[in-house]
Amino acid sequence: MSGKHSPQNPEHYLERIADVEMTAVMSKAINEGIITEEDTAVFFYDLSRLKARIDNLITLFPDSTLHAVAVKANPLISILKYLEKLNVGAEAASLPELYLAEKCGYRPERIAFDSPVKTWEEIEYALKLGVHINIDSFEELKRISTLLKSVNSRSTMGIRINPQVGAGTIELTSVADEYSKFGIPIKQFRSDLKQAYLENEWLTGVHLHVGSQGCPPELLIDGIAIVLDFAEEVNSELQKQGSGRRIDIFDIGGGLPTPYSANDNIINMSDYYKMLRSRLPKLFDGRYRLITEFGRYIHANVCWAVSRIEYLKQSENLQTAMIHLGAECFTRECYHPEIWYHDMSVVNTTGALKKAHPKKSVIAGPLCFAGDIIAKNIELPAMESGDYLIIHDSGAYILSMWSRYNSRQMPKVIGYYGEDFEFVILKARESPETVYRFWDDS
Ligand SMILES: Cc1ncc(COP(=O)(O)O)c(C=O)c1O
Repeated sequence: MSGKHSPQNPEHYLERIADVEMTAVMSKAINEGIITEEDTAVFFYDLSRLKARIDNLITLFPDSTLHAVAVKANPLISILKYLEKLNVGAEAASLPELYLAEKCGYRPERIAFDSPVKTWEEIEYALKLGVHINIDSFEELKRISTLLKSVNSRSTMGIRINPQVGAGTIELTSVADEYSKFGIPIKQFRSDLKQAYLENEWLTGVHLHVGSQGCPPELLIDGIAIVLDFAEEVNSELQKQGSGRRIDIFDIGGGLPTPYSANDNIINMSDYYKMLRSRLPKLFDGRYRLITEFGRYIHANVCWAVSRIEYLKQSENLQTAMIHLGAECFTRECYHPEIWYHDMSVVNTTGALKKAHPKKSVIAGPLCFAGDIIAKNIELPAMESGDYLIIHDSGAYILSMWSRYNSRQMPKVIGYYGEDFEFVILKARESPETVYRFWDDS
């Protein structure tokens, strides 16, 4: 997977993937037999683009920053291993995510453990391993304090603070409103929070996450500013008390939105970083070691899904493509189509782009319920059974949402890299036997 990673223009790899590139990859994959008859659906992952996104992040932020990429955005083992080699860390939101990161070679100090419902056993496991732990509640803080009496740990720890800056445009992915199930709300508990930092010398970090997609950069930065103001207040109190310690780990979370259409007017990571630096210079004066937890921005635009159109249902003004991907992975798209949108393209059996005779279309998945519709009211060229439908920007929160309803087989994931599109299989198509084993509890 090392291959050619030196495109003429590195900026090119930071853009969304154009039709012309996807069709070139498709033609090559069809010609080389990478997509076989049994591959009713596949995902393509542009590893050069993934690397470019990571390189860009690493170049922008101070060297001491830990970029803990959100495992939940895409937990494919080959991708986690690839990212680890690129010198980033992992943000784990459950014990199994922590286990995946550990097994993929992430050093404990490069893992941030964020689950909001950690059990006693999970906390003890994390403490013994020595990962960074973000504490979600005062009750969890008490558990940690109890465990630290008997467990020797190298873990660093912070509290997840809800800065209560308000919601973005998507309520379901906004977590810093007046009420949130995550973290400790700063307005009601500022003095208790302060007390916790003054009393517990092992508490040296702060953490926040404002939301995912739909949260404009200004809102993300407003949230960070509130928590920074709090950290500065605690630090000056500690200094007044003559304490040699201070809050020195600042986890800014993830949440930078990413474009899903040419009309999405969204800033890139470089501009976000410039905004952060100019609004919050204190965050960058060397007193804080930063942690970031980006997921969607890293993965969404570097991967695309393809399904064969198995059947086409025609009526006078509408064509319905029956495809092999649906709510089992495009979950949010099916349940909230008013929010989640993907550009789509149609290619023929040789991988050539179709453009002619656009028609109102419905893209229907294979699952047994009426809501299994990835898109409707979309204009697509005239389709035929046997064509392929490409669903753009499918790298984040798609495969990771995989559901077992109707016991569908997870498709093959194909990586490619370099300007010649060299292929590598990142995950084989699941066999019916693997699905059987999932349901077998004997
Ligand atoms: C605590 C936390 N960190 C990071 C992320 C990643 O967010 P995004 O993928 O939008 O960057 C999430 C997403 O839900 C999260 O809950």
